[in-house]
Amino acid sequence: MSEKILVIGANGQIGTELVIALRNRHGGQQVIASDINNPVEAIKDSGPFEFANVLDKETLYGLFQKHQPTQVYLLAAILSAVGEQKPKLAWDLNMNGLINVLDLAVEFKTSKVFWPSSIAVFGPHSPKQNTPQYCIMDPNTVYGFSKLAGERWCEYYHAKHGLDVRSIRYPGLISWKAAPGGGTTDYAIHIFYEALKTGTYQSFLSADTMLPMMYMEDAIRATLQLMDAPAEQISIRSSYNLGGISFTPETLAREIKQHLPEFAISYADQDSRQAIADSWPQSIDDSQAAQDWNWKLEYDLPRMAAEMLKNLKNTLNL
Ligand code: SER
Repeated sequence: MSEKILVIGANGQIGTELVIALRNRHGGQQVIASDINNPVEAIKDSGPFEFANVLDKETLYGLFQKHQPTQVYLLAAILSAVGEQKPKLAWDLNMNGLINVLDLAVEFKTSKVFWPSSIAVFGPHSPKQNTPQYCIMDPNTVYGFSKLAGERWCEYYHAKHGLDVRSIRYPGLISWKAAPGGGTTDYAIHIFYEALKTGTYQSFLSADTMLPMMYMEDAIRATLQLMDAPAEQISIRSSYNLGGISFTPETLAREIKQHLPEFAISYADQDSRQAIADSWPQSIDDSQAAQDWNWKLEYDLPRMAAEMLKNLKNTLNL
């Protein structure tokens, strides 16, 4: 049976790349991109697009009715840093958006649903190194606890309604095609732009702030691999830990210097994002993803940095 795939929140950092990857696989017409904002050219030109706000149940219902999707990817979210500025909106969007989609997926018998979670589900009392799948989780950002509650809803809908919902706890995602959406890990993208444009970067996180990150190619591959896996291999219906590469601003700057020897990093006075970063894991144990659906990282720090610089140089016409 051919798939009909609905991607909600298609204009964001993940959606922009995931929609294209899905269209390459299934054909442009099979993948409906949807967002509250106008799509970028690449998405507009390669298949159908629908305006929708995930909190607007009526429009969402219309989308499910019109397209009868076999798979839904719900990517609309407010991330950690912006979430702290708009806590009620972040809770509303991240939580009720998810519940709206889960309900419609049950009603319309959608075969599979994907929803992203995050390393932000962990908190100050979670183990920092090689953070296990199951441990103390006391997230202290609205983003983090909306994702943790969302994970519980996913597992619940699987248990109560048999909904085949799958999820990944993404680390900080590093990409060059679309801008990141207001997270704490965004420095690891801004640094590449500034290194190429000005040769300097002032980091909002301190030199030794270690966080797990991942190059978008790996993140997209992980997502498709998880969605392709036979249902009986999916042992986790909340969300899978995914590790990626762990580094600090200082290590990343050193890696960039290998390519741009004049590059210099400096450090700003810390803002509220530092406390968020300090509450998150430094590295993640993703052995369950490896065991269940053969997850394996491809981009280490040198490879990721080389790709980022090469691609951004082209994009910025440098
Ligand atoms: N990249 C996200 C953020 O910083 C973490 O999921 O908010």
